[in-house]
Amino acid sequence: MRRITVIGAGSTIAEACMRGWCSEQPTHFVLVGRSEENLRALAADLLVRGTEGTSVTVHTGGFEDCDAVSATVTGALAHGTPDIAMVAFGSLPDQAAAGLLPSALAEALTVNGVWPALCAQMLFNAQRDAGGGRLVLLGSVAGDRGRRSNYAYGAAKSLLATFAAGLQHASAGTGVSVSLVKPGPTDTPMTRDAGTRGRLASPDEVARTMLAGVAKGQPVIYAPARWRAIMAIIRALPRPLFDRLDI
Ligand SMILES: NC(=O)c1ccc[n+]([C@@H]2O[C@H](COP(=O)([O-])OP(=O)(O)OC[C@H]3O[C@@H](n4cnc5c(N)ncnc54)[C@H](OP(=O)(O)O)[C@@H]3O)[C@@H](O)[C@H]2O)c1
Repeated sequence: MRRITVIGAGSTIAEACMRGWCSEQPTHFVLVGRSEENLRALAADLLVRGTEGTSVTVHTGGFEDCDAVSATVTGALAHGTPDIAMVAFGSLPDQAAAGLLPSALAEALTVNGVWPALCAQMLFNAQRDAGGGRLVLLGSVAGDRGRRSNYAYGAAKSLLATFAAGLQHASAGTGVSVSLVKPGPTDTPMTRDAGTRGRLASPDEVARTMLAGVAKGQPVIYAPARWRAIMAIIRALPRPLFDRLDI
């Protein structure tokens, strides 16, 4: 039976992906996160929605330091090497606070960059040793160009993008495919809590694009797809013009 492990399974985008995957074929999900209550509710939902044969294991763990993150992923892998592994957790920091408080800046960079990279490496090693798998990492369009409104978060996602590119290079000939997903602003608790402005994509729309891209083993998936063109323009803007934009 297919096995899917999601680190940060409480993420709304990850949940939308799992709702898609659970209807495709019998799957064993390993849901990894901090809140047992949230993960159990998600497990119950997947069991109701999932095709016959769907099963779920809940695995709670810590994310506060390197040892805790490493122990959490080791515990998740003890349930078996996943055919599909996803690293989904992240948080949108207050850039103003991160600009003033060293501890807030360090947390923003760590939670969105260092810990996801650590998880990715451990999952990649396991899949490579098992002879294959798909590894899905949640980056962001914010990692494509530093902006004054969110460069702490963007820099962490940029770290993850370079890390993903390195894993993609390392994956040649191993049977593992690594996909970095770059969602645009999406309507989830993360953006609601941060008061993000502008048009937000729905998690289901983002998940549909992600699932199609992951199935094809695409290395970089913009979701929704229009963000590929938008970010190409943003990256190409000359500095004097870019500096005048309030983004
Ligand atoms: N929403 C967007 O606009 C957007 C855009 C681009 C990229 N992304 C990325 O997509 C991913 C999923 O985001 P989402 O929108 O689905 O967010 P979400 O629904 O708010 O979920 C965030 C998840 O991250 C976990 N998390 C937050 N802080 C954590 C920490 N310090 N340690 C461990 N886990 C932590 C949360 O765990 P608990 O349930 O335990 O709190 C939750 O599972 C993230 O990597 C995010 O950066 C989102």
